[in-house]
Amino acid sequence: MRIAVYPGSFDPITNGHLDIIRRASRLYDKLIIGVLNNTSKSPLFTAEERKAMIDEAIVGISNVSCDVFSGLLVDFAKQNGASVIVKGLRTVADFEYEFQMALLNKALNPEYETMFMMTNTKYSYISSSMIKEVAKYNGELDGLVPHNVILKIKDKLQREF
Ligand code: PNS
Repeated sequence: MRIAVYPGSFDPITNGHLDIIRRASRLYDKLIIGVLNNTSKSPLFTAEERKAMIDEAIVGISNVSCDVFSGLLVDFAKQNGASVIVKGLRTVADFEYEFQMALLNKALNPEYETMFMMTNTKYSYISSSMIKEVAKYNGELDGLVPHNVILKIKDKLQREF
């Protein structure tokens, strides 16, 4: 069985992430989304809130699941029996950072391959940080993030200010 992990901060999940998830789910028997419970960044949503938004967004994609992880990605992959790490690439700016992470993960555990998927051009300009900025100033989020996320982000920002 071919199991892949798709890791990230997902603060929050965007339509760009969801597109990679849908496409990767067709290539592997099982795709496990790993939400990093990152203590050094200060995310807008807690890891559990980020996971809950992902769980709602992936309803209907039967071979995809989502879990929160902390620690090393290669350890999360091992715990889940995965052999592949899936990453999405938008622009050349992503490449340098992703290349470094792929090499580091390979050095940490040579068993894992990182597979890069090019973003759909429709979503190449979307990032979670820009989504938060648009939301903060009441910009239109339709088409950029899943519908359930629009409600959650509005709710969260209203509580913040
Ligand atoms: O969505 P992001 O923030 O670009 O995702 C980054 C992520 C979660 C893939 C990366 O930070 C990660 O894998 N963190 C886990 C810790 C780890 O394994 N670090 C060493 C390899 S980078």
